[in-house]
Amino acid sequence: MTQPITVPLLDLKAQYATIRDEVRAAVDEILESQMCILGPTVANCEAKLAEYCHCPHAIGVSSGSDALLISLMAEGVGPGDEVITTPYTFFATAGAIARLGAKPVFVDVDPQTYNIDPAQIESKITQNTKVLLPVHLYGQCADMDPIVAVADQHGIPVIEDAAQAIGSEYKGRRAGTMGRYGCFSFFPSKNLGAAGDGGLVTTCDDAVAEKLRILHAHGSKPKYYHAMIGGNFRFDAIQAAIVAVKLQYLDQWTAGRQANAERYRRLFGEAGLVDEKLVRLPLETPGYRHIYNQFVIRVPRRDELRAYLKEQKIGNEVYYPISLHMQKCFDYLGHKEGDFPESEAAARETIALPIYPELSDEQAAWVVEAIRRFLTQ
Ligand SMILES: Cc1ncc(COP(=O)(O)O)c(C=O)c1O
Repeated sequence: MTQPITVPLLDLKAQYATIRDEVRAAVDEILESQMCILGPTVANCEAKLAEYCHCPHAIGVSSGSDALLISLMAEGVGPGDEVITTPYTFFATAGAIARLGAKPVFVDVDPQTYNIDPAQIESKITQNTKVLLPVHLYGQCADMDPIVAVADQHGIPVIEDAAQAIGSEYKGRRAGTMGRYGCFSFFPSKNLGAAGDGGLVTTCDDAVAEKLRILHAHGSKPKYYHAMIGGNFRFDAIQAAIVAVKLQYLDQWTAGRQANAERYRRLFGEAGLVDEKLVRLPLETPGYRHIYNQFVIRVPRRDELRAYLKEQKIGNEVYYPISLHMQKCFDYLGHKEGDFPESEAAARETIALPIYPELSDEQAAWVVEAIRRFLTQ
């Protein structure tokens, strides 16, 4: 292959082209009805999402960030409390904790999966630990059995940050059903993305579901009576209508991502690049359903590779370039470089490649060929 091809990191226009009529009809229905806040469309979308997530309750909210916030609020998290989480995640995970005045307590990640290392959790539990907040990064679940076991042993609830992991499974259980709460995001780049912001909280607990429903509309029940302080965390009806349309295609799109991951594994193998010193491919843990929100490889000279791929018009991204303990806003936590070595190494060496369902054979081959040229030149 000699002809250069442009490969975006994600091609949402290609996806939209396949569902345009259905999406427009669904949006039109909302506009004609003018039932833009909650109502039957949101309820219908929530029911479908609950079924998809294998969970009795699914409460639509305004974003994945708010899903985390409202779940922490429902647990009464506030000043003086500690919440254990990973430093290698999107900012919102720790941001939600800090916004409530609680302290994010970080635990380093596993170097293969980049998910929280369960073996290091117990030593971080104190009498102030209020919640364990693992993240299912890139679409693969954290190792939940030991996480839930340590949480149960100490009587601490688990909130799963499943923002990147809708439909992901751990030993036959869906993301969002293993902790007391599952928090999802419909940010457009997610496997199930809205046309704007949106999110979801799942729970198997009836009382928790009731509390979340009250909190997500200012803590009001009955209307205008407030026994609790909540917020405006409602799921927008237009977004719910779009998410409900797209949900019908989610498994098909996820299968496309999984097939692309397989194809990358084959192509990297054929190119002779699968070597600790060249390219480390993402680990797909046996018994898990990885939904490949991202396909993240690990390479030396990552920043140079990024620049090269950019020059070749090949989309890529670094999730995430700075481990959260090194973020300026968390200076007050008193961390220093070296505190979470695996997280720091991941921040230095990982890069996400295009994995979206519409990626063609030719595009995937071109991505691998460009990486081969860079690494062997
Ligand atoms: C791991 C993780 N947590 C939380 C969020 C926040 O979701 P949102 O962007 O919908 O607020 C995201 C998404 O960007 C995420 O990837």
